[in-house]
Amino acid sequence: MTATILDGKALAGRIETELCGEAETFAGVFSRRPRLVVVLVGDMAASASYVKSKAAAAGRVGIDSEVVAMPATASTAELVALVQAIARNEHGPADGILVQLPLPSHVDTVAVLDAVPPDRDVDGFHPENAGLLSQGRPRFIPCTAAGVQRMLIDAAIPTAGKHVVIVGRSDIVGKPLALLLASRPPLGCPPDDTGGCDATVTICHSRSGDIGALTRQADIVVAAVGRPKLITAMMVKPGAAVIDVGINRVDGGLVGDVDYGPVSEVAGWISPVPGGVGPMTVAMLLANTLLAAELRLGKR
Ligand code: GUN
Repeated sequence: MTATILDGKALAGRIETELCGEAETFAGVFSRRPRLVVVLVGDMAASASYVKSKAAAAGRVGIDSEVVAMPATASTAELVALVQAIARNEHGPADGILVQLPLPSHVDTVAVLDAVPPDRDVDGFHPENAGLLSQGRPRFIPCTAAGVQRMLIDAAIPTAGKHVVIVGRSDIVGKPLALLLASRPPLGCPPDDTGGCDATVTICHSRSGDIGALTRQADIVVAAVGRPKLITAMMVKPGAAVIDVGINRVDGGLVGDVDYGPVSEVAGWISPVPGGVGPMTVAMLLANTLLAAELRLGKR
C-alpha cells in the first residue's frame, strides 16, 4: 500500500482564499483591517522563522500584523507588562495577541500567557479558552489541534467510533486534539456529516510503556512529541491515517516524528513534513484572528 499524501500546504492555500473574503468584508464594515500582534522573545532561529511565516500568511489574506521583538534577557514582569500594553492597544489595534513559544527558561511562561486577554487569545492557550473547549463549547481552538481536525475532515477520514492514538500530551497539541476528536458533533450537525469528532481517543506519553502496542491498534495515529522518526512502519496498522505534528531540525533539514518513507508504504494516509500540519497551523491562526476581530467588534 502507498499512502495518500495529506497536502496541508494545498489545503491551507484553499482556506486562505476563503479567509481573504472574510477579511475584506471586515475591512469594508469597520474601515480597518483585522490586526495580529506577535511577541517574539530572544533570537531562536526556528521561532523567528515561524513568526515570519505567520506574518507573511496574515498579509496574504488581508490581516495586518506587527512583531514586537524582546531580548532573551527580558524578565517575566517585563513580558507581562508588554502583553498588557499590547492589550491596551498601545502597539496599535490588537485583535489577536500571540506570544511565540518557547520562552527563555527563566521566564514564567504561564504568567505571560495568562496576561493575554481571553477574547484575543488566538492561540487558544488561556485557561478560559481551554475550559470552553473542554466543556464542548469552543471559542479559540489551539491552532495545531484545529488544523489536524480540519485535515481529517477535508480528506473525509472517518473519526466517529474510530480509535485515535495521540502520542504526546502537550497543552498545545495532544490535550486539545484529544478533546476535539472525542467531542460530540456540533448542535444541528447532520448525522452523516460528523467528521472530526465522536472518536475514541488514547493519549500516550513517555511513561506509557510499549507505545507501538497502542499505535498498532489505531485507525488514526497522531505523532506530536518532537522525537525524530519515533513512529516506525512496525508501529502502524495497515491502512491507518498517520498525522505528523513533529518539526525537528536534523542535520540542517526538517524531519517529522514519523519515519516517513517506510510508514507511507503501510499507512492509508500520511501527512508530510514539511508541507503537512505546519501550514494548517498557520491557516487556523488566521481564522482565529478573524474570529477575534469579529468578536471584538460584536459581529459574531
Ligand atoms: N511554538 C510552537 N508552536 C506554537 C504555537 O502554536 N503557538 C505559539 N504561540 N508558539 C508556538
